[in-house]
Amino acid sequence: MQTIFSGIQPSGTITLGNYIGALKQFTELQDDYNCFFCIVDQHAITVPQDRLKLRQNIRNLAALYIAVGIDPEKATLFIQSEVPAHAQAGWMLQCVAYIGELERMTQFKDKSAGKEAVSAGLLTYPPLMAADILLYNANLVPVGDDQKQHLELTRDLAERFNRKYNDIFTIPEVRIPKAGARVMSLQDPTKKMSKSDPNTKAFISLLDDPKQIEKKIKSAVTDSDGIVKFDKELKPGVSNLLSIYSVLEQLPIEEIEQRYEGKGYGEFKADLAEVVIRHLEPIQQRYYELVESEELDRILDEGAAKANQTAGKTLKKMENAMGLGRKRK
Ligand code: TYM
Repeated sequence: MQTIFSGIQPSGTITLGNYIGALKQFTELQDDYNCFFCIVDQHAITVPQDRLKLRQNIRNLAALYIAVGIDPEKATLFIQSEVPAHAQAGWMLQCVAYIGELERMTQFKDKSAGKEAVSAGLLTYPPLMAADILLYNANLVPVGDDQKQHLELTRDLAERFNRKYNDIFTIPEVRIPKAGARVMSLQDPTKKMSKSDPNTKAFISLLDDPKQIEKKIKSAVTDSDGIVKFDKELKPGVSNLLSIYSVLEQLPIEEIEQRYEGKGYGEFKADLAEVVIRHLEPIQQRYYELVESEELDRILDEGAAKANQTAGKTLKKMENAMGLGRKRK
């Protein structure tokens, strides 16, 4: 059975973008692959975090993973910082990576632009991400479109390590969903929907209540021609809403366009709000049952134990390949 690895940062509310681009794919893949899903808290501290909020966000994200349908009997769910091999392997891969290639990462450029105090961790983020993936010898990494460049670097680092030291890493393939790989901001549809957007109207949180969802979709930026039609260039706002509708309802875009022919944005948006609310309701219900439960701790304990076992083996191989420590029998 092939292996899958993916991770999400616990750095704020989890958005509909994270759901459509990542979480939804995960639930569809867990039957056919050996899956490792991670709450990448060490990635989150590359930018300043409030300690108590971070702790809560980690727990919330763990509960959300289960609430959207990740089955701990099938997939391994764990917290990155509870598996020390990630930081250890991350360091080794930093020594394989070149500063130049890290400086070229668009996420680094975006997040550091105009800032005075940029953490070194923000620059060395991609080798840690590579470590996440390579420690499990993942064949496939399901992510949204924005992570493509990081995945390319992961492949480069793996190939470089294999060539320079010993051929131990599987070269992972990226898996981007055909639809919904880039859910856009509701307020500026030329930007991706992001959980760190200061304007909360720009994103839908998986935990927004029906009133908030209605309001946010109603105020989503569209255009003035009043035609429900997909055209990414000319009608980015409407196209984004159509994509969300299409992915959640599993309907082709053309069918939705036909449904709203001759009708205005008001009706389309009201129906879309209903679709989103209907999808999120059972997720939210399960989430609230789980988030403070001992069951969640049990799942995370078991997940960490399994992940430590697999990651520990690869880490040993890496240390041997690089000549770290002493030879052991
Ligand atoms: P993060 O936490 O920013 O996002 C988690 C996942 O959600 C996807 N995503 C989106 N998909 C569609 N539309 C959007 N608007 C949208 N916003 C986010 C992301 O592509 C991602 O799949 N570096 C990663 C976390 C990470 C990771 C890993 C991922 C760390 N180690 C190893 C895969 C494998 C990140 O910051 O994702």
